[in-house]
Amino acid sequence: MKILVTGGAGFIGSNFIRLCLQSHDDIEVVNLDALTYAGNLESLADVAGDPRYEFVKADIANRDEVNAVMEAHAFDAVLNFAAESHVDRSLHMGPQIFIQTNILGTQNLLDAARSRGVARFVQISTDEVYGSLGPEGAFSEATPVLPNNPYSATKAGADFMVRAACRSHGLDCVITRCSNNYGPYQFPEKLIPLMIANALEEKPLPVYGDGMHVRDWIYVLDHCSAIDLVLRQGKTGEVYNIGSMYDVPNIQVVKTLLRLLGKSESLIKYVKDRPGHDRRYAMDSTKIKNELGWEPAYTFERGIQQTIDWYLANSTWLENVRSGEYQSNYEKLYAGR
Ligand code: NAD
Ligand code: TYD
Repeated sequence: MKILVTGGAGFIGSNFIRLCLQSHDDIEVVNLDALTYAGNLESLADVAGDPRYEFVKADIANRDEVNAVMEAHAFDAVLNFAAESHVDRSLHMGPQIFIQTNILGTQNLLDAARSRGVARFVQISTDEVYGSLGPEGAFSEATPVLPNNPYSATKAGADFMVRAACRSHGLDCVITRCSNNYGPYQFPEKLIPLMIANALEEKPLPVYGDGMHVRDWIYVLDHCSAIDLVLRQGKTGEVYNIGSMYDVPNIQVVKTLLRLLGKSESLIKYVKDRPGHDRRYAMDSTKIKNELGWEPAYTFERGIQQTIDWYLANSTWLENVRSGEYQSNYEKLYAGR
């Protein structure tokens, strides 16, 4: 099987490529990535020499670049991980680049896949398209799509275009919607790696609002194993929710990290809340469990310890991604909070 993975130099894409190459001898992977601030080829340094792997620098929002990659290979499947993925950036730096990459980029890939007769298109989406939950219940695949911030609105827009390509044009598409991921190679703008990085430097840990916003945390390799299953066995036109049923308030996650790192809770700093901050996410993954037999393999305790150990052992990776523009962007996002 020959697959195109877009956004493979990012957090989840790089973990997915590594897992695919480890689990399947008969796979060839082309990684198409624009190498934005979130893309990092160091995350795939260990597989760069594998003859089954190739990297192409290209922008999914550029039709010509997408078509050139599609023309050069005969792909059996396209998996679209590429995205602008950070809610705070979508709020503070404007939605344009999110619309460009997340919606137009997805459409370019859909068009190219259709014209080349690609057999399967997997769209990597998110639970955030469902909006926010009240105190009870969990998102199912039948929950209405009601996004609340520019990032989730563009991911929802992409999901609708994928649905349309499937319904109107018969492209074989499947959509996965996963909860919050954590694990190795995550850019330290997201909650867990940011808190680990700040705690290691004894810097304040900025907790938004009252810290009682709930997210459902899944170890990245569990997400990747679910995507691999959906790629091979998912039913055309279906959506699959993926979560691990570990839904806890942010402050609990932050305190757990501080305990495991042996750092003081006095580092916690409550800061001004994120506008439109979704109060609670929780995933019902019954469908993928019953229909495809998927189960998460990692408990939060095991996954978070492995994640901390990885960041401790890979301080150079962390230092490199935090150099350059990281500091000025950090200050822009957190100034005045
Ligand atoms: P990430 O920000 O770490 O990586 C995104 C990658 O996409 C980067 O390598 C970046 O260079 C690349 N990219 C961005 N714009 C591009 C463009 N125009 N053309 C080509 N490449 C481009 O994101 P992630 O956390 O790995 O998320 C991957 C996907 O999974 C996203 O679609 C995201 O919406 C989805 N998702 C993420 C989570 C999560 O918790 N991180 C949860 C559910 C779903
Ligand atoms: P994040 O990792 O940005 O993921 P998402 O917004 O996609 O869920 O944030 C996870 C939760 O942590 C979310 O409720 C916002 C909160 N948060 C903070 O409290 N402080 C921070 O510095 C960050 C980045 C997030």
